[in-house]
Amino acid sequence: MQQLINDLLAFSRVGRSTESFTDVDLGAVATAAATQLEVARADADGEILVGELPTVHGDASLLQALLLNLIGNGLKFHRDGVPPVVRVEARPDGDDWEVTVADNGIGIEPEYGEKVFVIFQRLHGRDVYPGTGIGLALAKKIVEFHGGHIRLVDGPGPGATVRFTLPAPREETPT
Ligand SMILES: Nc1ncnc2c1ncn2[C@@H]1O[C@H](COP(=O)(O)OP(=O)(O)OP(=O)(O)O)[C@@H](O)[C@H]1O
Ligand SMILES: [Mg+2]
Repeated sequence: MQQLINDLLAFSRVGRSTESFTDVDLGAVATAAATQLEVARADADGEILVGELPTVHGDASLLQALLLNLIGNGLKFHRDGVPPVVRVEARPDGDDWEVTVADNGIGIEPEYGEKVFVIFQRLHGRDVYPGTGIGLALAKKIVEFHGGHIRLVDGPGPGATVRFTLPAPREETPT
């Protein structure tokens, strides 16, 4: 119950102001999220592989919550007997960065690709995989608040692949 209330509060707070936006080292943010997930990772005997990540323009704590939820899902929804491997990678996309979080878990059927981003929508019973169904809705709200978009994409193999865009740091205009 307390977790649900905290999650809902976090959800409702996203988008209040962009005052906290700075240039954020996404690699450091990913490392911090991975540290928060260390117990879950060790319990599942999993791996979190973070590639070279860019500096983006945004709110560091929201971006950490974003990666925490996506990497956390990758660790949680693993196949029986298959240790989770979650990869976080980025590549430039015009003026933006495109970030991919991919896992080797149970995957998401393409027909549910939009539904999973709706708050409280879950594809599994809570007795099978714990959770309240807020994580991806929060992820979507955070990405859209940064001016980006997020979606499920076809990955290279089994497992789920989520891709989102974030703005690159703003160029300083010479005075
Ligand atoms: N990486 C993934 N692999 C397989 N299914 C996933 C994955 N990520 C999300 N899902 C499916 O989408 C649903 C919604 O995800 P979301 O993160 O919003 O909720 P949750 O993880 O169940 O709960 P919470 O994030 O609030 O703890 C999940 O319940 C699960 O059915
Ligand atoms: Mg989740």
